[in-house]
Amino acid sequence: MQQRLQKIIAAAGYCSRRRAEELIAAGRVRVDGQIVKLGDQADAETSVILVDDKLLKAAENLVYILLNKPLGTVTTLNDPEGRPVVTDLVRDLPVRLFPVGRLDINTSGLLLMTNDGALANCLAHPSHQVDKTYLAKVRGQLSEQSKRSLEEGVLLEDGLTAPATLANLRYRGGHTWFELTIHEGRNRQVRRMCEALGHQVSRLVRIGYAFLTLEGLAPGQKRMLTAKEVARLKSLGDNP
Ligand code: URA
Repeated sequence: MQQRLQKIIAAAGYCSRRRAEELIAAGRVRVDGQIVKLGDQADAETSVILVDDKLLKAAENLVYILLNKPLGTVTTLNDPEGRPVVTDLVRDLPVRLFPVGRLDINTSGLLLMTNDGALANCLAHPSHQVDKTYLAKVRGQLSEQSKRSLEEGVLLEDGLTAPATLANLRYRGGHTWFELTIHEGRNRQVRRMCEALGHQVSRLVRIGYAFLTLEGLAPGQKRMLTAKEVARLKSLGDNP
């Protein structure tokens, strides 16, 4: 069956349709040895399609899961200490899934898991600056200066943090609750930012990742992303 090349490339999970059009227009796609142009068609089953000289593989069964990671699970495939790992929570699925980025053992919340290595690498790459929103509970009351620092940058041992957004701040029972949206993904970043300002984090939950939220998912529960959500994530990956 003849189909537009951008459709075949996107269906193979290589990138979004829009990005595929750009690759075709840039002369980076060949079919049976010939560079193709936008609008050309091919048969995914019988043509040899190369993108940047690499063979386009037929779509595997690509799976995209949004997991509400519970406290106490480790974001790894295998823990030498035998602690529960996030992959235990997706064992019922017939594919091997990898986490996109990581959450600390004591951080719960939104974790994407997929077998789409290209998308996972792309989203986790610092150049893509995906917004990640955390709900934090810290000891004590944040000063005006600390609030400004969280938003403008906190000096950590690996440098000044990028501008962030602070929202829904409230003080209750000796603790401050707030939401912090960052786009960097440094190790233990939110905890280290708060600790550098003198506030121990007593609870940390990732409640948002780009346009995705935890809505409807209790800790330990998961759901498949919709095709629309996957396409939106892919288009984020296309725009460094
Ligand atoms: N910041 C942290 O401190 N921990 C996480 O797991 C994620 C962000």
